[in-house]
Amino acid sequence: MASEINWFPGHMTKALRTMTEQIKNVDMVIETCDARIPISSRNPELNSILQNRRRLLVLNKADLAEDSATEEWISWYREQGIIAIPSDASHRKGLDRIRLASRELCADVLKRAHDRGRIGRPIRAMVVGIPNSGKSTLINALCNRKIAVTGDRPGVTRGFQWAKSDSSMELMDMPGVLWPNLGSRRNQICLTITGAVKPEIVDMTSFAYDGLNLLMKLYPKETSARYLLALPGTPGYVEDSYERFLLAAKNRGCILSGGRIDEERFSVLFLDDFKSGRIGKMTLERPEKPRLGQGGES
Ligand code: G4P
Repeated sequence: MASEINWFPGHMTKALRTMTEQIKNVDMVIETCDARIPISSRNPELNSILQNRRRLLVLNKADLAEDSATEEWISWYREQGIIAIPSDASHRKGLDRIRLASRELCADVLKRAHDRGRIGRPIRAMVVGIPNSGKSTLINALCNRKIAVTGDRPGVTRGFQWAKSDSSMELMDMPGVLWPNLGSRRNQICLTITGAVKPEIVDMTSFAYDGLNLLMKLYPKETSARYLLALPGTPGYVEDSYERFLLAAKNRGCILSGGRIDEERFSVLFLDDFKSGRIGKMTLERPEKPRLGQGGES
């Protein structure tokens, strides 16, 4: 298995085509992304399909992200003219704000419908997002029920389906879509350790190794505490990143008979730790600040 990702399964091409066909049947788009990676978890391919559409960006899994970073992202997106709302769909948090913002975004559509006698017409929203960003969980939460949805597993094809929220919203659930090559190595690391890319299709150990390095750089205190490592600049700190990876594995008991380190078992453990927020609340990307002499988006 390659340590780089370069793929574009046929079912993703099909999903993009379905979105293009269906976009005319909705009033707005709700895009879910992962609050820990609010840039890398947004599919750039969607822009050409969804351009000029009323769009709400849901920073889901906000419970796993650093609160102050989420606030920064909300302000940054506001500056770009995008409404971003944090949510923790698995605990039904943020739903009222999503409903309210959707009504505000579609106020003109609802007014026109009202003027034509269609009082209480529901908003029709297409829900899009990369796999594992929490789309199904959000739809289930907004609909207050459990809808059977086939997972976005590699090779699994599913079309779109409608789900009724309450009388105020109808949600068109689209399959999660990734894009070819997934950008830079750093993007790929972010997408893999947050669970958007299934570990079984990549060289999991190399992504866990890079992931651990990234966390040591961004959140040294929390990461070293979890894996019983010395902090950078303190006695016992292991400079060599591979040696550090092995030590972290050893400290977490991933040792094979004969004393060899079980890198694979540690990789599974590390990815699971990060995915479930056990290392701490972490945001892997920060908004770029405008450089001096530049205004707006940098
Ligand atoms: P998808 O439709 O976009 O592919 O995502 P889905 O709703 O299936 O959610 C993917 C995983 O993320 C699920 O975990 C789900 O429980 C979890 N999840 C969704 N929203 C949130 C949230 O706001 N906060 C947290 N902490 N977790 C959330 P899973 O069933 O364990 O699946 P997996 O991660 O093992 O694949």
